[in-house]
Amino acid sequence: MERIVGLASDHAGFALKQHVIKYLDAHHIKYIDYGCYNEESCDYPDYAHKLAEMLAKNDCTCGIGICGTGEGISMALNKHSNVRAALCWTPEIAHMTRLHNDANVLVMPGRYINEQTATKIMDEFFNTDFEGGRHINRIKKIPIH
Ligand code: RB5
Repeated sequence: MERIVGLASDHAGFALKQHVIKYLDAHHIKYIDYGCYNEESCDYPDYAHKLAEMLAKNDCTCGIGICGTGEGISMALNKHSNVRAALCWTPEIAHMTRLHNDANVLVMPGRYINEQTATKIMDEFFNTDFEGGRHINRIKKIPIH
């Protein structure tokens, strides 16, 4: 299946999202930006829920979410049973969460990492496959309804 990355951020994640867009363009990776579209104050759940719904409809195949800390947007994304959103602030965490959790949404803290770190995180997120095996049963136990 062709990879299409759904993007969601609030105002605090907007600047890093512009770097993400440059990265995706440079790597010829398709994306759909579900907002926000400027730095006016807004509410991260609105964009988190939109991304989760679009993932469920296969409008995109994975996602990137960004808010100031990455915490709020993670909380909102992970309310959806089809989402495994992983808050990553180092490339190692991005590597491990693909390997062990089959994370389908990468979340980054826009106010706490620089572009260079974000690039390394995305390299790991996009180039690491789920290990499967014992982790399959574990991720199957995550949804509660
Ligand atoms: C916005 O100021 C900030 O609260 C938000 O981006 C995020 O960090 C919340 O978790």
